[in-house]
Amino acid sequence: MCGIVGYVGEKQAQDVVIEGLRRLEYRGYDSAGVALVADGALATEKRAGKLANLEKAIADRPLPPATTGIGHTRWATHGAPNDPNAHPHAGAGRRVALVHNGIIENFAELRSELETAGHHLLSETDTEVAAHLLELEVDSGADLTQAMLAVVGRLEGAFTLVAVDAQDPSRVVAARRNSPLVVGIGEGENFLGSDVSAFIEHTREALELGQDQVVTITRDGVSVVGFDGTPAVGRRYHVDWDLSAAEKDGHDWFMRKEIYEQPRAVADSLLGRRTPDGHLHLDEMRLSDQELRDVDKIIIIACGTSFYAGMVAKYALEHWTRVPVEVELASEFRYRDPILDYSTLVVAISQSGETADTLQAIRHARTQRSKVLAICNTNGSTIPRESDAVIYTHAGPEIGVASTKGFLTQLVACYLLALYLAQVKGTRYGDEIDQVMGQLEEMPRHIEQVLAADQAVYELAREHVDTRSVLFLGRHAGYPVALEGALKLKELAYIHAEGFAAGELKHGPIALVEGGLPVFCVVPPQGRDQLRDKMVSGIQEVRARGARTICLVEEGDDAITPYADVVIRLPKVPVLLQPLVAVVPLQLFACELATVMGHDVDQPRNLAKSVTVE
Ligand code: F6R
Repeated sequence: MCGIVGYVGEKQAQDVVIEGLRRLEYRGYDSAGVALVADGALATEKRAGKLANLEKAIADRPLPPATTGIGHTRWATHGAPNDPNAHPHAGAGRRVALVHNGIIENFAELRSELETAGHHLLSETDTEVAAHLLELEVDSGADLTQAMLAVVGRLEGAFTLVAVDAQDPSRVVAARRNSPLVVGIGEGENFLGSDVSAFIEHTREALELGQDQVVTITRDGVSVVGFDGTPAVGRRYHVDWDLSAAEKDGHDWFMRKEIYEQPRAVADSLLGRRTPDGHLHLDEMRLSDQELRDVDKIIIIACGTSFYAGMVAKYALEHWTRVPVEVELASEFRYRDPILDYSTLVVAISQSGETADTLQAIRHARTQRSKVLAICNTNGSTIPRESDAVIYTHAGPEIGVASTKGFLTQLVACYLLALYLAQVKGTRYGDEIDQVMGQLEEMPRHIEQVLAADQAVYELAREHVDTRSVLFLGRHAGYPVALEGALKLKELAYIHAEGFAAGELKHGPIALVEGGLPVFCVVPPQGRDQLRDKMVSGIQEVRARGARTICLVEEGDDAITPYADVVIRLPKVPVLLQPLVAVVPLQLFACELATVMGHDVDQPRNLAKSVTVE
């Protein structure tokens, strides 16, 4: 939610900042802006709309050369997405420029204090207030770092602030509270970014910051202090992916590229999980065997697609470990006063590692003495940092706003967790765990097989360009797949789409069915015959009412054909692992339908990757 870049070095700051914004644009695309420090003055440009509007404005009216600068791409919270509300914002005398991600909760009172003192604010944002306060501090003789420390003491809420001072081109200063920020460490240059993709083109060395810290970057150094001014050290790490991972690789959309990357992402997420003697081993598992043996309840918290991964995890965890599992939307969790204690394991699933709802939920869980295990794709992000243990998913950067490979690799991590717990608790024999690991290791090949049939799914999507409503049905582990298929279609094609547990249909939703309505049906594998037969009844019920049934069925299951208007074949896999293959055609369908409808697949309207406000 909002992308932030800061640079000081020897290169043209404008180029570095704009390139960084391009890579961060998936975080928000309501407006974009830059501020450079050039010859003792600020040079700024900002525009509503996508980054391209800003680039055009700069091409029409070039900014002066400068080697220090900041930039911002916005997902609007306070104030409409127009030019005046775009960041950066400047202080009253245009000496300080500031960009911001988050929400300053006491901004109304600070604003009226400033207005009473004669300040004229140009925007409706909470950010501009911080810019004015910061400028007051530097005007009274503080350097930008001291000024930032003074200002953060007055702010309430969650924020990342990054600022420059026109009279001090040597530094860029940032503050972080409950909102993401990482430092990129270069040679003779340093960077700030909401995530590492902002500077991956220039350096793969990064520094993770803690909460409530102020960081100052100069050409030659990085210094970090806590909000109370005491020196601090961040954790330095090497980013294990490179620029090519942040490029589209010949695909029209990042999302499409990421769908096709899934076999590799799943394989990478399974790498190195077994010891030579065949035991499962999770190296970021910092919970002892005894702590895991004490677990008598698991609560999974997550949002959106990650929540659906959690729903699948429930089936696997309960089946393999016999520990009861609840799955809860992170945004609802702490408000219901959940029953937690030291023997409850809270599993927080988050691709970005920055989702504010999930972060607040894990903080609540930890205050109740529960252990928190994060499943996360982003090294250096807040959620794993604040958790007791973490399983990283190794999907590589996910840039398309709609999650795809993030989801599949979360499923893998959930299966690994379930098997690991089963191993530690002794609820499954070693050879059973071994067998499932073998089946998981086969999954990349099965996903390849589904992807190889992409053209038929694309053709199907093109036939649905005028469709206004689509339903998705599933049972058991196929139910979350149905929900995920519907979510992908809502976010990308902007059409009405709903997922249902097939058995629930007759309790109300079947009233939605009318002639020609497309209904995707995720059919459980054969062998789970009761489940599958009940699904077949559900398919017959909607078809009898005129629905067009599009059935995702495993190969060899021909009993379904009489009731299917369209059949999409899935490889034969165990029922618990079926989501790994069943969701892929639904991703392809949504991606292609949105493309033919002329939508921006990577940056759907109103959305942003990494939702850092509650
Ligand atoms: C949907 C999507 C979102 C995210 C949700 C949680 O395609 O991407 O629903 O899954 O915002 O995000 P993370 O996993 O980063 O916590």
